[in-house]
Amino acid sequence: MSDTSEQSLADRGSNRSQRPQSAAFIDWVTSGWADRPASTAARGAAADFTAVRRATLSAEFPGQRLVIPAGAFKVRSNDTDYRFRPHSAFAHLTGLGSEQEPDAVLVLHPAADGEGDELPDGTRSGHRAVLYMRPLASRDTEEFFADARYGEFWVGARPTLEDMAAVTGLATAHANELRDALAKDVGADGVQVLVVPEVDDAVEAVVEEIRETPQAELDARLAEALSELRLIKDAHEVGELRAAVAATAEGFEQMVRRLPEAVAHRRGERVIEGTFLAKAREEGNDVGYETIAAAGSHATTLHWTDNDGQVREGELVLVDAGVEVDSLYTADITRTLPVTGTFTADQRRVYQAVLDAADAAFAVAVPGNRFRDVHAAAMEVIAARLEEWGMLPVTAAESLSPEGQQHRRWMVHGTSHHLGLDVHDCAQARREMYLDAVIEPGMVFTIEPGLYFQADDLRVPEQLRGIGVRIEDDVLITANGNENLSAALPRTPEEIERWMADLLG
Ligand code: GLY
Ligand code: MN
Ligand code: MN
Repeated sequence: MSDTSEQSLADRGSNRSQRPQSAAFIDWVTSGWADRPASTAARGAAADFTAVRRATLSAEFPGQRLVIPAGAFKVRSNDTDYRFRPHSAFAHLTGLGSEQEPDAVLVLHPAADGEGDELPDGTRSGHRAVLYMRPLASRDTEEFFADARYGEFWVGARPTLEDMAAVTGLATAHANELRDALAKDVGADGVQVLVVPEVDDAVEAVVEEIRETPQAELDARLAEALSELRLIKDAHEVGELRAAVAATAEGFEQMVRRLPEAVAHRRGERVIEGTFLAKAREEGNDVGYETIAAAGSHATTLHWTDNDGQVREGELVLVDAGVEVDSLYTADITRTLPVTGTFTADQRRVYQAVLDAADAAFAVAVPGNRFRDVHAAAMEVIAARLEEWGMLPVTAAESLSPEGQQHRRWMVHGTSHHLGLDVHDCAQARREMYLDAVIEPGMVFTIEPGLYFQADDLRVPEQLRGIGVRIEDDVLITANGNENLSAALPRTPEEIERWMADLLG
């Protein structure tokens, strides 16, 4: 047997090159570096807000230790990872965003009276928060030059504990202190430890080992509380969402400008997708979800993300896209546009029905109504219009009854979802806090009715087959009503035609 055949499969990734191992090399590579410049880390704009968010969570879990991991790298293939994105609950409670901070764990330790973290208003939380992380390694370590996943030579310098404390306003500690800190005072009558499930397997395993018996229900309660904590956005979050929407609106403009190139390309949908992705990376962290660029009848596939089709003159193109800014808040906007800038009569008819449904939904998206009322208002318009067009086998009223719902053949999705750090934000909230909840100021959700007439749907009038329309806006609930955050993008057919004529010159 040769030497290489005895090598484990896991080690063979190193066969493509040879790292020098000599003492002379290690001495050479770890020395001769200038002092690092003085830290310029400044308190982040989110720090005061995250302190309040943590205190609100604290009040729901008195005496319990709460473990909120950022998560670990996810393998894309072989030894390449996806770009790191922290878990949204971690981002919400630390203010840390793009690529910060793999393997970090936020822990809220229960604190005795008067010993919890101080809030901006001088009161105290019931917990003391500590961020455990892998800090910058010094330059005399192997990690510095040899670790392709974490080393400074490979991925750049990580923040120090002091820098991270300055930016977040959190106490920070080395990750190797995490285990002992989690185990402190845990026991039959002692502290209970709760961990957000399915974020970081390694952290979860440590917690399971410490508490001995599984506590899945408690963990689920923590995940639920973290989700519900985001139902009302604070001023900092609203600012970030505005920035995400503004960047997204610019992305839509750029996509329109490139429509002629999209038409000329064999995969014009990719031209549209790529244009938006470039904008998202230039202005923010990424897209908040895979862009849907659906030309012609592809628009009737709700999550058309293949985007490998042609874009043809005379057809509509449905684009559903959102920029996720560096803080990880995302927009979620859809516009359905005529490729050449002018709607046909049939396209306009379908478009206007969806627009009327959206306007009806906006009218009831106000404090005091229930979240479910928004969908109901949109469906009333959709059912009425389908009845008018002779498409329903029953009356609109019968279709709207729970036993009917025939109109949903052409819009199977909901009209609204909360929006924030996740495109489908607050997804673990209880039904009574979401669908059945009373709408309150500070909520941000989408309004996105649609009509999708598949090309081979024999129940659709022939001239409407293959037309799919969705109009999606991002809505902030205010004290007395709502604000359409995405109003800068035109919505009516006339506004769209004018806007496209301007952009296409
Ligand atoms: N883009 C996904 C959605 O609109 O919910
Ligand atoms: Mn949406
Ligand atoms: Mn969308």
